[in-house]
Amino acid sequence: PIGAQQWVPAHPDGLDDLKEAATGCEGCELYADATQTVFGRGDAHARIVFVGEQPGDVEDQHGLPFVGPAGRLLREAVDEAGIDATGVYITNAVKHFRFEMRGKRRIHQTPGPAHIAACRPWLVAEFSLLKPELVVGLGATAAKALFGPAFRVTRSRGQLMPWPAAAQHPGDFPVAEIRAMATIHPSAVLRADDRDGAYRGLVDDLRVAQGAVA
Ligand code: URA
Ligand code: SF4
Repeated sequence: PIGAQQWVPAHPDGLDDLKEAATGCEGCELYADATQTVFGRGDAHARIVFVGEQPGDVEDQHGLPFVGPAGRLLREAVDEAGIDATGVYITNAVKHFRFEMRGKRRIHQTPGPAHIAACRPWLVAEFSLLKPELVVGLGATAAKALFGPAFRVTRSRGQLMPWPAAAQHPGDFPVAEIRAMATIHPSAVLRADDRDGAYRGLVDDLRVAQGAVA
């Protein structure tokens, strides 16, 4: 893929400007079959930015991130960790829904390294406008977008790290050094055999996040 860079405004007026520009992105092939670009949403002055994987089926139809079951669980966990949910921004590493058809059903497919790399300019542009104190990557795709392909959530979850020191790409917007961490994806909690344990693990990591900005 050619990547999103040429669709990203060089000097965006604000998040709405960025979001508007992203509606026309053809930086990888995912725009062709998805319903629409699903851009981030939330507080423009957020101190914490959450990064998910990609929009799901429900998000693809509504045009908003985390409005389905994973979003409900995320908000519960955020509340329980003591984070003010009205003061956060939520986005995804990849902004179009990747799926395959099985009969009439659209089945989620994990975005590949090429989709993550292609879409990364939108993510970096969001950070450069938001200037958050902390970015929290939810699951492997977000963690790879933030920290590179070798990152393992199971090994390094819940650890605060400097960003973008760990991942500099040519063409990145200048972003003041912020901190970042990864944790599991709320969808992984919903799928886990030990759902309560997985949920507690997510909340524990989010408490670390809350502590980092408190
Ligand atoms: N899962 C994600 O990673 N992002 C969404 O927006 C919804 C579900
Ligand atoms: Fe552009 Fe990202 Fe959509 Fe690919 S997934 S077309 S890079 S917005």
